[in-house]
Amino acid sequence: MYSVSGYREMIADRIRSAAYLESLRQTVRADSIVVEIGSGLGLFAIEAARLGARQVFAIEPANVIQISREIARVAGVADRITFIQELSTAVELPERADVIVSDLRGLLPLFQQLIPSIIDARERLLKPGGVLIPDIDTLWAGPVEDPDQYRRVSSWDDLAEGVDFASARRVVANTWWKGRVRPESFLSTPQSWATLDYKKITEPDVQGKLEFVVNRNAQMHGWALWFDTNLHGKVGFSNHAALPELIYGNAFFPLIAPVDLMEGDRITFRFRADLVDDDYVFCWDTQIVGPDCENKADYRQSSFFGNPISATQLIKQASNFVPALSEVGKVDRRILELMDSHRTIEEIAAIVFAEFPTTMVTKQKARNQVSKLSREYAR
Ligand SMILES: C[S@@+](CC[C@H](N)C(=O)[O-])C[C@H]1O[C@@H](n2cnc3c(N)ncnc32)[C@H](O)[C@@H]1O
Repeated sequence: MYSVSGYREMIADRIRSAAYLESLRQTVRADSIVVEIGSGLGLFAIEAARLGARQVFAIEPANVIQISREIARVAGVADRITFIQELSTAVELPERADVIVSDLRGLLPLFQQLIPSIIDARERLLKPGGVLIPDIDTLWAGPVEDPDQYRRVSSWDDLAEGVDFASARRVVANTWWKGRVRPESFLSTPQSWATLDYKKITEPDVQGKLEFVVNRNAQMHGWALWFDTNLHGKVGFSNHAALPELIYGNAFFPLIAPVDLMEGDRITFRFRADLVDDDYVFCWDTQIVGPDCENKADYRQSSFFGNPISATQLIKQASNFVPALSEVGKVDRRILELMDSHRTIEEIAAIVFAEFPTTMVTKQKARNQVSKLSREYAR
C-alpha cells in the first residue's frame, strides 16, 4: 500500500513518467479505448483522455482513487474517465481496450500479482492486436564487489562479544534489498537472464542461468539485479547502474560469505523466482570455479530462509495438514454467514457478541470485526 507521497515520487521520476507519456502519445488515437491498471493518482489515465481517447477506464483498488477522481475533474477530463475501485482481475468492462497501460512493478517486475494481472488483462480486457504498455521487461544481473552493501550481512560477525549471531546473519544473507551499485563494482559485464514479453507470457514463475568470467582480482559480495523496459517501440528506460537512478533502483542479493576472486575465474549464476501466494520466493545459486577447476564457492540461497517461520506455521501450510477452525475463525465464519443483505453491521455485531462472549469481549470489538469483514467482503 503506497502513501500519497509515494505516488507523488513515482510521478516525480521524470525519466519514467516521460517515457510512459511518450508511449501513450504514440499509441492513443482519437476514439481509442484505454485501460490503466493500477492508476494511482491517475496521471496516465488523464493523459490518455487528453490525447483524445473516447473512453478511459482507470482501475485502482486503493483509496487513492478518490483523489485521482478529483484531479481528473480539475483537469477537465472526468467525463471520459471511468474510475473503478477494484483489482483489474475482478473487473468486467463493456468493451475491450485498444491500449492497456500499467506500472505494477516494485523494485523488479517480479512483484506480487503483476504477471497474473497482465495475463488476465491481456486475455479478457484487450482487443485482439491491442497494445500493452509495457511491452517487454528484461531482467539483468551482474556479480559485484561492494563491501558497503555487504556490511548489512558482515556487521553481525562482531556484534556482541561472546554471543554468536550466526543464525541472524544467515537470515540476512538470504534477504535481498534495494541498493544502488556503482558501475565500477561489476566484476564481469552484466547479462540479461530473463525476458518478460507481456504479449506472450503465460506463467508468473521465471528462471535463468548465466555464466560469467571474472575480469579482475577482487572480492565478490553479491549480485546486482535490475530491469530495463521497452514500453512501446523504442520508448523505454533502464535501471543500469551507469545510468541516472530511477525510482526502482537496483536489487542487491548478497552471498553467504564474500569470495576472493582472480581474473579468469568462472561464475555460474542460477536464479529462480516463484510466485507463492501473493509474493515471490527468490532462489539464487552461485558457483565459482578457479583456473584449475577447483570449487571456490557453491552457495544456494533463498528468500525463503530470509523469512524465519515457525515449525507450527509451516505444518499448518502442509498439503496433508487437516485444519480445524480456531475460535476467531468461528467468529469470522458466523459474521460472514450473517452478511446476507438483511442485517446491519450493528445487528450482526449484537448477534456475534451474544454468541461468542469469550472471544468478542466487548460490543465494540464485535463491531470492529464486522466492519473489517464488511470492508473486505461486502458488495
Ligand atoms: C506502482 S503503482 C503505479 C501508480 C501509477 N500508475 C503510476 O505509475 O504513477 C501501482 C498501483 O497498482 C495498483 N494495483 C496493483 N495490482 C493491481 C491490479 N491487479 N488491478 C488494479 N490495480 C492494481 C496498486 O494499488 C498501486 O496503486
